[in-house]
Amino acid sequence: MATEIRALVDEGAARLARVSDKPRLEAEILLAAALARPRSYLAAHADSQVLDCEATDRFEAYVTRRALGEPVAYILGEKEFWSLPLAVTPGVLIPRPETELLVERGLAHLPPGEDLDVLDLATGSGAIALAIASERPACRVTGTDLSPVAIDIARKNARRLHLDRVGFLAGPWYEPVAGRRFDLVASNPPYIADDDPRVEHEVQRFEPHAALYAGPTGLEAITAIVEGALRHLKPGGWLVLEHGDTQGKPVRDLLRHAGFDGVHTHRDLAGRERCTEGVLKSRPVR
Ligand SMILES: C[S@@+](CC[C@H](N)C(=O)[O-])C[C@H]1O[C@@H](n2cnc3c(N)ncnc32)[C@H](O)[C@@H]1O
Repeated sequence: MATEIRALVDEGAARLARVSDKPRLEAEILLAAALARPRSYLAAHADSQVLDCEATDRFEAYVTRRALGEPVAYILGEKEFWSLPLAVTPGVLIPRPETELLVERGLAHLPPGEDLDVLDLATGSGAIALAIASERPACRVTGTDLSPVAIDIARKNARRLHLDRVGFLAGPWYEPVAGRRFDLVASNPPYIADDDPRVEHEVQRFEPHAALYAGPTGLEAITAIVEGALRHLKPGGWLVLEHGDTQGKPVRDLLRHAGFDGVHTHRDLAGRERCTEGVLKSRPVR
């Protein structure tokens, strides 16, 4: 293998072209990580030789794993979300940039400085809970997930980010917060139907099945979350949900039938319906 930075990137990009739609960018990210340098170092030193054999071996190993389809985030053990560097392992979903829309909508219902209770259901790496906690330090944020592995990672992320007003609890849906009520419930739950033929994204082969697939209709998790929200929202509390781009109408229907007001779906930058919210004004169920 070549040892000049430019040639290493060229060779890596050529090997990743089959699995990646951004092979050069990914080759650069992997080489920068192997060298323990920022990516900007590569452009500034494109003609330099890499004399550290361990670094070139590391790069070679990273490229081999990526060429077999493994996502960059799992190879490096980290993914940035809402400008926060989050640890991720194959036990948790890799946080997606689309989910930042859900964070924006959640923050819209949390006036800064107010001491409010927030629940992130199906928290995975803790991405949504930690993003909200980083923006609203006065809030008490709780994240729950069925997967104890996810809860361990979310706790590790909270420690690394020094976000100590966030707590994480393992268990199904609202079970770990039985008897508690919140001003905001946010969730990016599993919402893919078991036999959805459109799901063929390479990354998803490596991610936990339970993080992606909800059941025969794809709406099973969202239905459970909407029903449970009636017992876990304070009067005036908001429920904000991420969903698939064809699920806007069924999710709005679910919220309206459950008695939510202000039901509205927000679109992502590509114009797709991805996030639906509603407020529970009426007296909550006991
Ligand atoms: C799509 S991932 C979302 C992870 C994270 N919120 C994010 O946006 O990156 C869905 C999460 O739901 C969790 N999950 C699946 N079934 C669950 C259940 N019955 N109760 C609680 N969490 C569940 C999975 O473990 C997974 O972490």
